Amino acid sequence: LMPETLKWEDKTLWILDQRKIPFQTEYLRCTSYEDVASAIEQMAIRGAPAIGIAAAYGVVLASHIGRNACEKAISRLAGTRPTAVNLFWALMRMKKILECTDDDRLSKHLLTEAAGIFQDDIDNNRNMALHGMSLLSHVSVIMTHCNAGALATGGYGTALGLIRKLQEIRNNLQVYACETRPLLQGGRLTSWELWQDGIDVTVICDSMAASVMLNKGIHAVIVGADRVAANGDVANKIGTYGLAVLARYHNIPFYVASPISTFDRAVESGREIPIEERAEGEIRSFRDIPLIPDHIPVHNPAFDVTPADLVSAIITEKGNITRPDRKKIRDFFDKLNEE
Ligand code: MRU
Repeated sequence: LMPETLKWEDKTLWILDQRKIPFQTEYLRCTSYEDVASAIEQMAIRGAPAIGIAAAYGVVLASHIGRNACEKAISRLAGTRPTAVNLFWALMRMKKILECTDDDRLSKHLLTEAAGIFQDDIDNNRNMALHGMSLLSHVSVIMTHCNAGALATGGYGTALGLIRKLQEIRNNLQVYACETRPLLQGGRLTSWELWQDGIDVTVICDSMAASVMLNKGIHAVIVGADRVAANGDVANKIGTYGLAVLARYHNIPFYVASPISTFDRAVESGREIPIEERAEGEIRSFRDIPLIPDHIPVHNPAFDVTPADLVSAIITEKGNITRPDRKKIRDFFDKLNEE
């Protein structure tokens, strides 16, 4: 029942066009790296792991032209969106293959790498869900934000992966999805995914979160991440920070599901994470209906940073980091490197 976010078939990347969901399910046909780059920019595909996977296949498409095109593709794709680090992480993996492979095997090896990034992401989501259960097994009423589901990843999802796993175990979940203005990833995408899986989901406006926490007995807030800094600060969809503050006030645990590919330990704290500012039009009008007149200024940051102090745990495919801070994150990665 899970949507197929991307499909690779015969030198073509098919991207499920998320701008049209839930009313239409159409695939965009990408045969060049430019097709992929504009699909990412225009958010036909979105979500940190998913844009990394798409970009990797963009480099594969470029390799059918040649090595130079691959280099151009990497810099073009890296310029599409600034916040989610998975994009740069995936392109770095592709660049390494590019540098150590001779011309006649280039396409083949790049394709193997992209397929590996894709499959690893699905496996990581499944493992994240297993690790998450040690913290969440008692939870049945959940709030989430944006879409951190199959659509945002290679499949299964990060935050929604945990929710899927919980539903398997308990079968009595109730999920409140914040609609996530301005692009409504929660209202359109998360509700669509969960509904198809038979999970009881209710959409609320972002402004209702505080009162729903107070009145609906929320057990946990679970979100994804676009970049986690070395000190545990978490960049995620705009509105996440507000939910974390509200969760603290209401004594509700706040969990972040994030694969290791979303950590950027080169960034000391959230303050250094570049936050994408998107077009004003996303706020000024909705599907051609004007909402805010042109002479009134608007501000449209796509992400915010939740300080580590508000995070109860970061759930990864290799285990959970509870009450994350700089030292715990360093120790966690040191231990992984020893293994
Ligand atoms: O602007 P978007 O829709 O790409 O933002 C996506 C998010 O903020 C998700 O919560 C995040 O990428 C985690 S997805 C597993």
